[in-house]
Amino acid sequence: MPNFSEIINPLQTVLVSCRGNATLVGRTTVKDNLITVDWHTMINVEPFLYGIAIGKTRFSHTLIKESGVFCINFVPHSKAGEVLYCGRHSGNFEDKFAKTGLGKLDCEKIDCCRVREAAAFLECEIIETIDFADHTFFIGKVVHSAVMDRNAKRLFHLKGDEFGTIR
Ligand SMILES: Cc1cc2nc3c(=O)[nH]c(=O)nc-3n(C[C@H](O)[C@H](O)[C@H](O)COP(=O)(O)O)c2cc1C
Repeated sequence: MPNFSEIINPLQTVLVSCRGNATLVGRTTVKDNLITVDWHTMINVEPFLYGIAIGKTRFSHTLIKESGVFCINFVPHSKAGEVLYCGRHSGNFEDKFAKTGLGKLDCEKIDCCRVREAAAFLECEIIETIDFADHTFFIGKVVHSAVMDRNAKRLFHLKGDEFGTIR
């Protein structure tokens, strides 16, 4: 198999926030989680649709599938370390908001959390789910969005642990 990231990167890296029930040692609690995602794209203008490809083994896959919602957080380049942490650790056994120190806010139109430090965000309600061998493509209708910082230096994944920006 070719080194696909060598072919398709750089890609803008986002944090997808999600919320759902998690059961640990017989106790069910509501869990907020963050997953680092490179594979995301706008799909349609009216309605505004946005898609994410999430690996079936990810803890976030379970939360997103069950809750039917997710939020795309466009984080600045200055948060590369936190984003890498969220992309190398599973939220199954830890709280990534607490571990990274990223701030947590509630979404406005969906029952989900979002990242305080994001430059912009998209609140999405899933309208279609397409299953592939190892990833699921979740298509969300954007029900609320905002840009907080138009001048933010966005985060781009180069390769491995390396990130860059364009301004
Ligand atoms: C830069 C970067 C980009 C990533 N992009 C994706 C992606 O597009 N889809 C995906 O399923 N996992 C992606 N991952 C891997 C997940 O972020 C990683 O497996 C994470 O630990 C899953 O967390 P969770 O188990 O709490 O859901 C990426 C990781 C990194 C470091």
